[in-house]
Amino acid sequence: MVDICPSILSADFTRLGEDIDAVIRGGANYIHLDVMDGHFVPNLTVGIPVLKSIRPITPVKIDAHLMISNPLAFAGKFAKAGADLVVVHSETIDSGEAFEQISGEGAGPGIALNPDTPWSAAEPYLEDLDLIVLMTVYPGFSGQKFMPAVVPKIADAAMAREENGYRYLIQVDGGVNLETIGTVVDAGANMVVAGSAAYSGGDPEANVRALIEAGRR
Ligand code: DX5
Ligand code: ZN
Repeated sequence: MVDICPSILSADFTRLGEDIDAVIRGGANYIHLDVMDGHFVPNLTVGIPVLKSIRPITPVKIDAHLMISNPLAFAGKFAKAGADLVVVHSETIDSGEAFEQISGEGAGPGIALNPDTPWSAAEPYLEDLDLIVLMTVYPGFSGQKFMPAVVPKIADAAMAREENGYRYLIQVDGGVNLETIGTVVDAGANMVVAGSAAYSGGDPEANVRALIEAGRR
């Protein structure tokens, strides 16, 4: 069954705790924390203080998605502050040092690939990773349209794992909703991020239930 990872970027920040509870009641397996620095992406969001606030009230895993230019300055800190998985963008690294920092703090390292970044950018690191994130929108904003051109890359990730016995899970992030979830699950996704699909329309619990249903195979 596919894991649903609601992004609190689309939650109501005046009632963040309740919005986290609601998606977990609906069956969410992770809370997805979108961290943006206004430099790697043209937007600013939240950071370590928010992670520290939600950690004690979040009974499921937290995956931190770092859309930041300097992951070496922060990756280990997000792991230390309680993220279970910490993901850095392939476009921001030229070695596996960030992954070592993350593992060194006892969290799982992940790599994210922008829509136009080829699968080969992840290849040097595959055996060290717990998560591959395939972006199906250009990062920076929730509520964008799913890019079907990325679907073959999901299949590439699944095939490389199958052929080599790697341990990573495959997450798809961007524009996943009731219409698109089936396509990404069929291509091999184990986890999907849901921003607007989880939090729009006022009933996050029911939204997550409906996504789980639509992703069932
Ligand atoms: C995009 C973020 C996504 C986004 C998902 O930059 O990384 O996680 O919040 O939002 P939706 O599901 O609305 O595309
Ligand atoms: Zn994200």
